[in-house]
Amino acid sequence: MSARGEVATDRTIVLVGLMGAGKSCIGRRLAARLGLPFRDADAEIERAAGCSVEDIFELHGETAFREGENRVICRLLDEAPHVLATGGGAFMHPKTRAAIGDRAISVWLRADLELMLKRTGRRNHRPLLKRGDPRKILSDLMAQRYPVYGEADLVVDSVDGPPEVTVERVVAALEKRAASNEGARRAEGAEA
Ligand code: S3P
Repeated sequence: MSARGEVATDRTIVLVGLMGAGKSCIGRRLAARLGLPFRDADAEIERAAGCSVEDIFELHGETAFREGENRVICRLLDEAPHVLATGGGAFMHPKTRAAIGDRAISVWLRADLELMLKRTGRRNHRPLLKRGDPRKILSDLMAQRYPVYGEADLVVDSVDGPPEVTVERVVAALEKRAASNEGARRAEGAEA
């Protein structure tokens, strides 16, 4: 069976989670592993707006960013199945979360605070982390967002170390979901 055939790829696989959880890094590798295209919602927003996420926050504010993010993600969900890395706030937007719930398989990449701090500390382009102490901001966001990220279809711990380890965890979680859906379909067929 091909790598792609191992998991249900009739739906786009959407990675959600906080900044620094590894959504883009894992997403790119996951897409290659599954033989699917990869899209990064932030990069698509920047392309559509013709400026950086940081500039959109600065010039238009967070609310306008979230509306643009919703439009871009809905457009991407209309495309053929792919792996989509979303920005950390996307799944918090009720309309975006509902669209993902209807049309995709969502995977929360959950990481611990130290790992996210380490990863986000490598670059200084995230507007939310410039508003104060990144440790406090990220831990407040964990408290606010983790209950909502918990609504994702699958939860996978993003680990420090080679990205392939986390990629294989996502593949295993997708396979398990596909197997249990198949089991449910067979049981329904047997009943009919
Ligand atoms: C945000 C996360 C960022 C980007 C924007 C807002 C957030 O994406 O969309 O800065 O609200 O958590 P990453 O999660 O890819 O850093």
